[in-house]
Amino acid sequence: MNPDIRTIVILTGAGISAESGLATFRGPDGLWEGHRVEDVCTPQALRRDPALVHRFYDERRARLAQVRPNAAHEALAALDRAWPGELLIVTQNVDDLHERAGATRLIHMHGELRSALCAACGAAVAWEAGLPPGSICPGCGQPALRPDIVFFGEMPYDMDRIEDALARADLFVSVGTSGAVYPAAGFVQTARHYGARTIELNLDPSAGSIWFDESRMGPASLLVPALVHELLA
Ligand code: APR
Repeated sequence: MNPDIRTIVILTGAGISAESGLATFRGPDGLWEGHRVEDVCTPQALRRDPALVHRFYDERRARLAQVRPNAAHEALAALDRAWPGELLIVTQNVDDLHERAGATRLIHMHGELRSALCAACGAAVAWEAGLPPGSICPGCGQPALRPDIVFFGEMPYDMDRIEDALARADLFVSVGTSGAVYPAAGFVQTARHYGARTIELNLDPSAGSIWFDESRMGPASLLVPALVHELLA
């Protein structure tokens, strides 16, 4: 790998957690755990049927206790510990497998299952248990807690920090994402625009494959440790 690489941005998606046993969003049946994404992942769905949406994320949160980080999460955490330059892992995933593997330079741009968001005061609260609609915000006392998930049509978190890192990146790596959802799907073009080398690691070519200098196809549990090995060699 080029010795001039100092700043690395890594975007991860559902594919990095697939081998831990968590379902991806756009499987062959087009459903996410039996639901259309629009029925559980939009502000309209939350208004129409809060019980369904809250229960759906309760089930996903409970599932986290049954899964573990895999070799891909472990390898990125090892890179995070060892990389002397700037590094930012931007995950679209709402699971906690990156941090459980030990990654710290991490942004959850689409929110987190283990967090609740107050629709009244905007506070985010660490949350482990079930979250029924009408749960009280410990900050403002309003019955307004909802899953801390960025729904379609809502602004992803920390976009300023992400754009800033993309503009400085020498290397941009995308792992396990279909490239179907913006703004994350456009990060490769931003990074390229500012001169980064771009590498995609995925089971199949993603929607944005043409934007990558290099596409490596295969399971994340093999491809990510191999790339980390190259970077740290
Ligand atoms: N290793 C590498 N890639 C894999 C693996 C694996 N073991 N298994 C699946 N993949 C790839 C698939 O080929 C697919 O391209 O991971 C990708 C997963 O794509 P999606 O299911 O679309 O997930 P993602 O890209 O993370 O979705 C983006 O969509 O609904 C929203 O907010 C949600 O964050 C999510 C966003």
